[in-house]
Amino acid sequence: MRLFLDTANIEQIKEAVELGVISGVTTNPTLVAKEGKDFFTLIKEISSIVPGPVSAEVIGLTAPEMIAEAKKLVQLGNNIVVKIPMIKEGLKAVSALSKEGIKTNVTLIFSANQALLAARAGAAYVSPFVGRHDELGVHGMDLVADIVQIFDIHGFTTEVIAAAMRNPLHTVEAAKAGAHIATINHAILMQMISHPMTQIGLEKFLADWESVQKR
Ligand code: E4P
Repeated sequence: MRLFLDTANIEQIKEAVELGVISGVTTNPTLVAKEGKDFFTLIKEISSIVPGPVSAEVIGLTAPEMIAEAKKLVQLGNNIVVKIPMIKEGLKAVSALSKEGIKTNVTLIFSANQALLAARAGAAYVSPFVGRHDELGVHGMDLVADIVQIFDIHGFTTEVIAAAMRNPLHTVEAAKAGAHIATINHAILMQMISHPMTQIGLEKFLADWESVQKR
């Protein structure tokens, strides 16, 4: 399973790329707004530092608006993937863009039917939102597993990005569910690295080594 970083923060992205474990980045209007920077400038900078797909979301709500925005966004870098919301107009935009070879990531997916339609329309990626389902008392990862199963059975090449991840356990669950990608925020990435027993063990190794050196 590949890992994408779910942020528009340049410093977090640079740190994650340096770790060598991140294959792409996903952004959304909320994440971009947090940075307080010009949208196109920010996406262009992210595109230049990430060795993989960078998802940038359209704002328009009609297919013509989405298509026009998409064509501007893909000019920012050859790794730009256009994020399209799972609405009727979004499907029209995905269908048109896929015919022009523009990769799309259909977002705000909350049902297997939505994912199926997005794949049929030609989406390169679908993003089922795990955490927001969990917050409703529904096991969000079940949706990821269902979509993966449907895509596997029917040979869809559309990739499943487990999104709206809330903790490092979600990453394990997404991997077990067969998600192609999990998009995680910086905090989850840091939590995935650390374990208290690792720190305790390292300190013991070093203490034992030091005790011998002092003999
Ligand atoms: C990623 O593509 C999604 O936009 C993101 O994971 C949504 O997460 P949130 O539910 O924390 O907004």
